[in-house]
Amino acid sequence: MRFLKILLLLFVFQGFAQQGGMWIPSLLEGMNESEMSALGSQLSAEDIYDVNNSSLKDAIAHFNGGCTAEVISNQGLLLTNHHCGYGQIQSHSTLENDYLKDGFWAMNFDEEIPNENLYVEFIVSIHDVTDKVLENVTDELSERDRQSQISRNSNAVLESWPREDWQDVKTKAFYNGNQYFLFVTERFEDIRLVGAPPTSIGKFGSDTDNWVFPRHTGDFSLFRIYADANNRPAKYSEDNKPYIPKHYLPVSLDGVEEGDFTLVFGFPGTTNEYLPAVAIQHITQEFNPTNIAIREAALKVIDAEMKTNDEVRIKYASKQARIANAWKKWIGENLGIEKSGAIEIRRDFEERFKTAMEKKNLTDKYADILPEFEKLYAEFSPVNIKRRNFIEVFLVTNELMQMMFYAYQFEQALLQNPEAFNEEKANYLNRLKGIYKNYDAQVDQGVFENVMPFYHDDVDSSIYSNTAFTSMETASDLFKDDMEKVLKNLNKDPAYQYAKPIIEDFFINVNPEFVKINTSISALQTRYMTALMEVLPDERYFPDANSTLRVTYGQVRGYSPRDAVYYNEVSYLDGVMEKYIPGDYEFDVPDKLIDLYKAKDFGQYTDDTGKVPVCFLGTNHTTGGNSGSPAIDANGYLVGLNFDRVWEGTMSDMYYDPEICRNIMVDLRYILFIIDKYAGAEHLIEEMTLVRPKSEMPKGKKKNRKKKK
Ligand code: ARG
Ligand code: GLU
Repeated sequence: MRFLKILLLLFVFQGFAQQGGMWIPSLLEGMNESEMSALGSQLSAEDIYDVNNSSLKDAIAHFNGGCTAEVISNQGLLLTNHHCGYGQIQSHSTLENDYLKDGFWAMNFDEEIPNENLYVEFIVSIHDVTDKVLENVTDELSERDRQSQISRNSNAVLESWPREDWQDVKTKAFYNGNQYFLFVTERFEDIRLVGAPPTSIGKFGSDTDNWVFPRHTGDFSLFRIYADANNRPAKYSEDNKPYIPKHYLPVSLDGVEEGDFTLVFGFPGTTNEYLPAVAIQHITQEFNPTNIAIREAALKVIDAEMKTNDEVRIKYASKQARIANAWKKWIGENLGIEKSGAIEIRRDFEERFKTAMEKKNLTDKYADILPEFEKLYAEFSPVNIKRRNFIEVFLVTNELMQMMFYAYQFEQALLQNPEAFNEEKANYLNRLKGIYKNYDAQVDQGVFENVMPFYHDDVDSSIYSNTAFTSMETASDLFKDDMEKVLKNLNKDPAYQYAKPIIEDFFINVNPEFVKINTSISALQTRYMTALMEVLPDERYFPDANSTLRVTYGQVRGYSPRDAVYYNEVSYLDGVMEKYIPGDYEFDVPDKLIDLYKAKDFGQYTDDTGKVPVCFLGTNHTTGGNSGSPAIDANGYLVGLNFDRVWEGTMSDMYYDPEICRNIMVDLRYILFIIDKYAGAEHLIEEMTLVRPKSEMPKGKKKNRKKKK
């Protein structure tokens, strides 16, 4: 029995050998390289990152600071998610030209649409500057002095670092401030919209399918980078030309199958992989539940109204998606932590840490850390929950309270600096305008009644009948006179009278208390990281995500979310048709797509089953910010577009378990099928380089195919 168990474990470990982690692309030589080849990769560290020659990294861009995008042609064609380009697609949409609803396809360069305030950034090179940044940073310094020494050092490094005129430099902290890297970057600001499928493809399944598998979403959009006459970054100009990249990704028509190697290359935002067990317990058992409850209370009102009222549906679409996205993620995160036994596993790890610490005689140095975490989190818990609940009620869900929050800041700004009255007033009214564009006072009152009890005992919804802040017209009436009068009007408004003491309490008590304990926790986390690496030096440490360029590798794999249920690793166009509900706002399918399906007009975009693959799963360790990241095969070819994770696996932000953590990617063949057959934008396909690395191989040699360059 025991032997069997060990055998089983061995099998599992082999199947999921050494995955997880988001690695720094300039440091892949050695361990990562051999792990990747054990998973089936043919790529060398230099194929992925090279300072002197072009490499895969030259095709990867940070999209507007939040998502990832990749270059897929020698004319700067850029691929990212539909939900990453959503804001741009929406901004060009009107009732007559509703690109959200109908999609958009530029049929030549002239039809491509410029976008204000959209940029992409490439990484030119990465350098370890830890010694310089931590120079004269000693244990004797107070936390404050420590931070200012670090920022002085960092600025000095940045100032003297060699770079071209069109390049930027920045430093970033890794391993909770135990290591520092410098990035030389290039930022392009003339980025034009090239194509987007209709929402019924790009956001098919909407919230119901969000964070889950099986998934059938064509979550992609296309942009193009334009550069100046010298092929360098430039602001928008009619004279700019399509950018010629240092590298672009060829697209494989052969796709991937179960067990194939995949590498996801992008800009993951934030993870917390080295938290003590007490922190995971706090987050999942105390912190998440109250925030989930608040959002649930808000969604109950919003969803009901959206279903019966079309105007509300349109106005609240994006707001609702934002609220529901994290709500659903947190529920999955809690489930996954529970199912995987992550807290117990972390406690066992801490025991191992303690034993090794004692063995190495490091107790004097580090024995206080874990007990100190217990103490700090006990203090932190109520404060952290209260502060976050405030944010959920006043800034995320209820908009009248949001208007009051900003009104309070407006008043405070004027008390400090009365000169700024006109400017502050304009800013505030602008903010109101933004809110009222998608506002419904009745829905908001319902939300107020549902969410306020989570923060404050006195829930007085009569303020909605008496406040001026239920419409732009009545609100702006309060702001007509001079400053003194405006502030008087504001302080007479019942909504402001209600909210002001609560907001004041937040700024005077709640937030400062949070900042105080949080600063101590961060400093302790930095020490813990140092201690881990000294006490258990042979563990596999990767730095937490921090919005810098990372590589994560794994394999194509299905998974079992619960007993007797198994999800295949790939979904097909047949599944889109299975889910089709005519006229439904989540599951409608465009006629043209139905016709193509019925006629089996799939072109070259099928796999060997003759079907069009839509999405597939991998064991790559991803997080928010990896949206739009390329999934690259063993040869360096593009096979997928990352856009989501499976529900039970969203806990990978704190604990990655290769058995249940999966990232979800759109199969590139579905994207090509939509561009070619659905949109008829063949010129875009022609612009790309399509390859068939598998079919060109003689049969039987598939498994150890040679790398091609
Ligand atoms: N869950 C994905 C992410 O975290 C996709 C969100 C966009 N899609 C949606 N149905 N709201 O960003
Ligand atoms: N949809 C996420 C994003 O916008 C990626 C999914 C995830 O969190 O893994 O970045």
